[in-house]
Amino acid sequence: MFKKILIISCLLSSISLFAQYEAAEELFDDASCMSCHTEEDFSPKVGKVDSFKKLTKVIDACRFANDVSWFDDESLDVARYLNHLYYKFEEKE
Ligand code: HEC
Repeated sequence: MFKKILIISCLLSSISLFAQYEAAEELFDDASCMSCHTEEDFSPKVGKVDSFKKLTKVIDACRFANDVSWFDDESLDVARYLNHLYYKFEEKE
């Protein structure tokens, strides 16, 4: 019984994580971030983006510079999404 609940709750949480990434992907695509960037831009660099926290900062800088109207939590979702795809930092703020 407990095992079943555990399995179901694991499934549900991975589904909601997936939905979150999907929503972030849509935000990211709609904001034309890739008009300036290529995938190669998104990799950890010494002294620049070398932590999840810095990643959230540069994304904020880029969205403000380009008048992208995301809420802060949406921006964080995009950070998680890019981190999941490219940077692979440990997520802490
Ligand atoms: C007008 C061009 C432009 C647009 C549009 C733009 N960026 Fe940027 N972005 C830059 C520049 C320039 C840098 C700084 C590059 C550097 O200093 O290495 C940068 C840096 C970044 C970095 C850090 C890359 C790294 O690892 O060094 C991330 C992440 C990023 N932008 C995300 C975004 C996101 C998300 C969007 C969409 C909201 C976006 N950018 C839209 C120009 C742009």
